[in-house]
Amino acid sequence: MSEPLLQVSGIGKRFGGLQALSDVSLSAGAGEIVGLIGPNGAGKTTLFSTLVGLHKPDSGTIRLGGRDLVGYKPHKIAAAGMVKTFQNVALFLDSSVLDNVLTGGLMRHGVQEARELARTCLERVGIGAIAGKLARDLSFPERARVEVARALCTQPRILLLDEAMAALNQSEMDEFMALLRQLREEGLTLIIVEHHMRAIMSLCQRLVVLNFGQLIATGTPAEIARDPAVIEAYLGRSAA
Ligand SMILES: Nc1ncnc2c1ncn2[C@@H]1O[C@H](COP(=O)(O)OP(=O)(O)O)[C@@H](O)[C@H]1O
Ligand SMILES: [Mg+2]
Repeated sequence: MSEPLLQVSGIGKRFGGLQALSDVSLSAGAGEIVGLIGPNGAGKTTLFSTLVGLHKPDSGTIRLGGRDLVGYKPHKIAAAGMVKTFQNVALFLDSSVLDNVLTGGLMRHGVQEARELARTCLERVGIGAIAGKLARDLSFPERARVEVARALCTQPRILLLDEAMAALNQSEMDEFMALLRQLREEGLTLIIVEHHMRAIMSLCQRLVVLNFGQLIATGTPAEIARDPAVIEAYLGRSAA
């Protein structure tokens, strides 16, 4: 069997006295949407940051397309095809949407080409019409899409979304989920951290569950929903 697009094995990460990640392994196949869930503080953001090179893991391997990425800087990992959006959206508020998005393209292209690419990415996420709007004037759903467009502008193979739907209401979330499905159909691989179980259950082919930095379960949404360890650590609490 050929190796999945992303293969992560045995990741450990310690912050001083805190073992934030212990022996975490996961994979994502091309065109898959994988959900990463777990209580606050479980290590989800730390895992994403480690995958994209913002933290160097103390142990483990991260292979993308068969290539080992541990020790590479974020821009190298982005160039290899893996980027993440940030949990708390960090746009340049006094710049236009187009200028925010084109920064993602500067890694591979000059300004003029990056601008063209940025327009394409804005169209792709359904917000071509707001290219000239200032980032500070955006609604939450617009912001979420601008973040995705900026990430797409790096031309990734795999996109890591960290609570991208946190500020959205039900109908905005449904529209955002339709966008994620569309991106998947276009061939993108996604790993999403999300607290909304309805979104996770309907979007993801496979779920990975973290608790106190350890992987406690992996399986289909249906398998995870009836896993006693997951119910104890996470689902039971949110359902209560
Ligand atoms: N840069 C850091 N330095 C020290 N501790 C951190 C750092 N980043 C995260 N942590 C700690 O690591 C644990 C996991 O945090 P995080 O990855 O943000 O969890 P999650 O995203 O699942 O809510 C938490 O206890 C958090 O306080
Ligand atoms: Mg987090």
